Amino acid sequence: MNWEDIYAHAQEWVKEAGNRIRSSFDQTLNIQTKSDPNDLVTNIDKEIEQFFIKKIRGVYPNHQIMGEEGFGDELKSLEGIVWLIDPIDGTMNFIHQQRNFAISLAVYEDGIGKIGLIYDVVHDELYHAIRGSGAYLNQKEIPVLKDTIVKESIIALNATWVMENHRIDHNLMIPLVKDARGTRSYGTAALELVFVATGRVDAYLSMRLSPWDFGAGAVIIEELGGVVTNLRGEKLDFLSQDSLFAANSGLHHSILKEYLKDGKW
Ligand code: IPD
Ligand code: CA
Ligand code: CA
Repeated sequence: MNWEDIYAHAQEWVKEAGNRIRSSFDQTLNIQTKSDPNDLVTNIDKEIEQFFIKKIRGVYPNHQIMGEEGFGDELKSLEGIVWLIDPIDGTMNFIHQQRNFAISLAVYEDGIGKIGLIYDVVHDELYHAIRGSGAYLNQKEIPVLKDTIVKESIIALNATWVMENHRIDHNLMIPLVKDARGTRSYGTAALELVFVATGRVDAYLSMRLSPWDFGAGAVIIEELGGVVTNLRGEKLDFLSQDSLFAANSGLHHSILKEYLKDGKW
């Protein structure tokens, strides 16, 4: 398998998709809802996913594709080579703000992340990594992550998880929010993950995400020595929805132990 070739194609396609999204800014969006009134999708999300699928199928007809908008394959396993596509991560931001969204594209082989790309279209910033060769922001290598401690850390998480909710006991989250230096919520898992990768935030926690949300971010963060698991500290399987906890290694260890009770809840 020529991974450099796949990497080059992925970068070319993600840039082209970014151009398409940029040129959509003047158009009127067709906005629909999915699972609930706040779960939004636009014609652009769908067009971009279809654009990637056409490109991938044209060059790699044997690869499988898992795309958020459902134009890819129905995957039963991650055997072989699988592309994970989130054509627009942060659709609500895309609609309301025309910023704070990204394209997330990952390539996995037998469940192992090989390539991760996250493209912040508005800033023309492409975060990318191929396993074993470091991670980059455009042409610039991203330094490996340094450990931080909770009281000097910024933690990205959604306020929902600090209120009573049915996914986690919010009493576990309150002390973490109190002890941290600060919290942030950007509304785009893909960018929140590259913020962890670049040390702009020190951890990112979410109660429920899908493989296309975290597939690329996991490759990039792990390449920099960071740790990506679910909130119980277990490995992700990249085939199903799960909670997510990404951080530099020292912070991941201390939050898991001291706040998340080693997953025993
Ligand atoms: C969403 C964003 C958001 C996260 C949601 C995701 P989408 O992705 O990443 O930050 O909290 O859980 O579904 O729907 O905009 O691609
Ligand atoms: Ca998403
Ligand atoms: Ca999306």
